[in-house]
Amino acid sequence: MQNNRIKEKSRNYFNELAQAENGYDIPEPKKCYPYIIDVIEKIGDRKSKILDIGCGEGDVLLQLSEMGYTSLYGVDLSDEAVKRAKELNPKINFTVGDVEQLPFDDEEFDVIVCSHSFHHYPDPALAMSEMYRALQRNGRLLLVENDTFFLRRICINISLMLRHHPAGDIRWYSRNKLCRLAEKAGFSYAHCETITNRSAMLEAVR
Ligand SMILES: C[S@@+](CC[C@H](N)C(=O)[O-])C[C@H]1O[C@@H](n2cnc3c(N)ncnc32)[C@H](O)[C@@H]1O
Repeated sequence: MQNNRIKEKSRNYFNELAQAENGYDIPEPKKCYPYIIDVIEKIGDRKSKILDIGCGEGDVLLQLSEMGYTSLYGVDLSDEAVKRAKELNPKINFTVGDVEQLPFDDEEFDVIVCSHSFHHYPDPALAMSEMYRALQRNGRLLLVENDTFFLRRICINISLMLRHHPAGDIRWYSRNKLCRLAEKAGFSYAHCETITNRSAMLEAVR
């Protein structure tokens, strides 16, 4: 019940943002897109089946589409963000959905991207196991999250425990915790490193 309320808060917040004149326009995730695309360029080819979870308006997928990638899927809790994403690129398959119950079959994707969305998830272990389920054997998860030093993260997490964050943020994770969550979900390899002064990327292999 509490989890549904938190998701509702996230959905409402991002619905409003998607309807604002400039849309999402959040600087930190944008800084991370080149790092995500760089890894995809190294591990995949133009036919790789790629899913972006918590895709928002689909910016990463739009860039990949312009580069010639053809099998692109995005899922997000916010129906308004999905509506805007579909208007921006009708060739990409955008769907409204929840990471905890991904509307996809087992082992469907070569790559799953999840950028600056994981800190909204009330059940991170379930989210991670859904990502594992939807990935092919040897498929890659590229998960980008907020990163900061230990004491600041603890202060942020204490304030987030009050559950007053307007976007329904739940928790910031250490790089170590992200790796442990991935390994617990079954990923055979998990490595997390800092990519900007505010974000880290977990790369996990199914
Ligand atoms: C900060 S935005 C990041 C958008 C985009 N990934 C980026 O990097 O620019 C977080 C996104 O996660 C989505 N989200 C939050 N909880 C979700 C859930 N349970 N399932 C799917 N998407 C979710 C929100 O609707 C929002 O679009």
